[in-house]
Amino acid sequence: TESLYKAMEKRGRSFIGTALTIRNETIEETIIQQDFNSITPENAMKWESTEPSQANFTFDGADQIAAFATRNELQLHCHTLVWHSQLPAWVSQGGFDNATLIQVMEDHIAAVAGRYKDVCTRWDVVNEALNEDGTYRESVWYNTIGEAFLPIAFSLAAKYAPDTQLFYNDYNIDLNGAKTDGARRIVELIQSYGVRIDGVGYQAHFTQEATPTAPGPLPEQPDLIEALEKTASLGVEVAYTEIDIRMNTPATAEKLEVQAGIYERVAGACLAVESCIGMTVWGISDKYSWIPETFPGEGAANVWGESYEKKPAYTGFLAGI
Ligand code: XIL
Repeated sequence: TESLYKAMEKRGRSFIGTALTIRNETIEETIIQQDFNSITPENAMKWESTEPSQANFTFDGADQIAAFATRNELQLHCHTLVWHSQLPAWVSQGGFDNATLIQVMEDHIAAVAGRYKDVCTRWDVVNEALNEDGTYRESVWYNTIGEAFLPIAFSLAAKYAPDTQLFYNDYNIDLNGAKTDGARRIVELIQSYGVRIDGVGYQAHFTQEATPTAPGPLPEQPDLIEALEKTASLGVEVAYTEIDIRMNTPATAEKLEVQAGIYERVAGACLAVESCIGMTVWGISDKYSWIPETFPGEGAANVWGESYEKKPAYTGFLAGI
């Protein structure tokens, strides 16, 4: 029978993944076994989940994800070590000076990346460091440490997770604009420090039409390909790490067909780039997608519907692989 990840393996690529929150939906494990060979913890490995107060590490949720991956022989795309969001106030408003904040970062990476060093296939070491114009985003990391926070984070991740592939991850860098050039500069910056970076994750939170939150429509495939190649040409791997394709709700049969075509276009872009190793979708079912609460009036972004039925997007995605 058809399987997304088996199709991907037939093309010589590494993975098809989904974001996962462990909940009481046994059908999710069945779908994962059939269609996926990688998972990304949707929230369980973020800073607020793993170190809510200083040196107080809480690994229950993350351990469950790691056990799920091991039990099902899945790759684990670990997410994320250094990010401005879902970061507890003790870090973001702690008033740490440069040296102390670097120590805070090291303690966190040592504990979290160290704990999962044998189970994380990849880490999103730094998430979302860029503004839309390609400049660095204001954050406690950038404001305190400067751009060196990037190579420092990657060098610490390499120290504590030597066998894990280390990724920079961001959204809208897939659109081949100024932010894509920013991602290229980040790879060059890290490489210029002599520090290892193995890949760039392109989140791919897309809209199929102009929406209140995005200009739309999505670029054509040649632009998507060029965006991937802008960093891949520096010798790193690339991947789509958080794909969903939202629409103004309610969904209609027509919009679901358009969406299927976009899933096919996105998958085809990855397959057109030799260094594109895999694609992860941001959740299985529309039932639990983060989109409706983050972007009111939008939704229906995933490949499976509210009742875990395959949407036309499934056929589209598979056709693109
Ligand atoms: C989202 C989760 O899906 C939500 O459950 C949570 O409330 C907020 O974060 N970019 C990322 C992801 O890198 O971590 C985000 O995940 C979606 C945007």
